[in-house]
Amino acid sequence: MSRLVGSLVAAGISKSYGAEVVLADVSLVVPPRARIGLVGPNGAGKSTLLRVLAGLEEPDAGRIRRTPPSLTVGYLTQERDTGDAASGGEKARAALAETLRDDFDVLLLDEPTNDLDFAGLAWLERGLAAHPGSVIVISHDRAFLDRTVTRIVELDEWTRGATEYSGGWSDYEAERARRRERHYRSWEASVAERRRIEEQQRRMTEWEQRGYGQGRKKKKSKDVRRTYGAKLARVEKVEKPYEPWELHLSLAAAARSGDVVIRLEDAVVERGSFRLGPLDLEVAWGDRLAVAGPNGSGKTTLLDTLLGRLPLVAGSRWVGPSVVLGELEQDRSALTGRQTLLEVFRDHEEGTARTLLAKFGLGADDVLRATSSLSPGERTRAGLALLTARGVNCLVLDEPTNHLDVEAIEELERALVAYDGTVLLVTHDRRFLEAFAPTRTIEL
Ligand SMILES: Nc1ncnc2c1ncn2[C@@H]1O[C@H](COP(=O)(O)OP(=O)(O)OP(=O)(O)O)[C@@H](O)[C@H]1O
Ligand SMILES: [Mg+2]
Repeated sequence: MSRLVGSLVAAGISKSYGAEVVLADVSLVVPPRARIGLVGPNGAGKSTLLRVLAGLEEPDAGRIRRTPPSLTVGYLTQERDTGDAASGGEKARAALAETLRDDFDVLLLDEPTNDLDFAGLAWLERGLAAHPGSVIVISHDRAFLDRTVTRIVELDEWTRGATEYSGGWSDYEAERARRRERHYRSWEASVAERRRIEEQQRRMTEWEQRGYGQGRKKKKSKDVRRTYGAKLARVEKVEKPYEPWELHLSLAAAARSGDVVIRLEDAVVERGSFRLGPLDLEVAWGDRLAVAGPNGSGKTTLLDTLLGRLPLVAGSRWVGPSVVLGELEQDRSALTGRQTLLEVFRDHEEGTARTLLAKFGLGADDVLRATSSLSPGERTRAGLALLTARGVNCLVLDEPTNHLDVEAIEELERALVAYDGTVLLVTHDRRFLEAFAPTRTIEL
């Protein structure tokens, strides 16, 4: 079969949700065999742009052109729900396999690496390398982007526009730092030049007012203003560089629990045909326990067992009396309802709730929207904020880095290092696991 050689073009795309502008005049050309990484902070509009490119969402302005019109486009959504019985990673792999199999001319993949184990990640990378069409992929996985893409398109949360960089993640990071530095320097130079001219004008006016100009042709202060006004107008105007809101995650444990947090004795659980156990496990105060294993090995099932969500078929489970358990579930399902974030935080005084949510990057507009309309990254941040508000002293985190942007991942790493309570963690993010520094690891 001969392959279509064609391209996908987005021209001047704008999109708003209510009063909130998400994309402003975004253009993008996807030539044959392109490998593009789409990046930007949570809520920047990455998924929105991908849905518009896929033809699933109408832009308010601008258009999408497929050349030739018969160009086929495959799309993988960020939140993959193919029904229950399957683990998060198995669902991810099944959905990806389907998207990769149908020989599309263009692949649009929204965070395909979420939930994949190491073997799954390697399999995806091989699949993408062998794919004859073009690929646009959203990801916060720095190493994955370095290995798979040759161009980065960044969506800016401030201007709501797109900026292009050549190379992978590392090239992008270095070039972005250089551009910021240059922008900063030219802004500083322009501010200094304006100050210099204003100072000259001030001195000249003072000189005039003291009458020193008399005897010579008198310069009126009006003339002084005109001369310096013209000088000022010639100084190039440079916008002050945008300084992003810095994220400050902090997780504080409530009162300390007893020495034994959870104990399982000969515990056996079943989930469909999957059986886990018999397990003997004691989690102690301050343990930093990592649960590792390939997709489908039962990591989430083990967490569910520890949390008491699955009935034991045999054995026993005991939880310390002062233990306050709190979890961030793998599918973030606790925050998908019609309630607004402020309603979810109704046990807390409104000002306190707003301040806390702001620390997690959720601003005044975000807290008044239904949680179901939040982007998955915003929902993950809200879930972390909720754990903090509840003063949990045993944190249960299932793939917490899924959906979080790079800045939030790094901030969460720091918050977990400082956290003095007990933590149970499942993650496939190697860098995150290293930073977490588990005191114990359970291999399933
Ligand atoms: N139906 C909707 N109604 C209101 N706001 C929405 C709706 N869908 C998305 N938004 C908002 O639009 C913005 C962009 O969302 P989008 O999902 O495109 O972001 P994203 O860059 O993919 O974020 P993430 O990294 O979390 O996946 C976010 O602030 C989101 O909350
Ligand atoms: Mg998204």
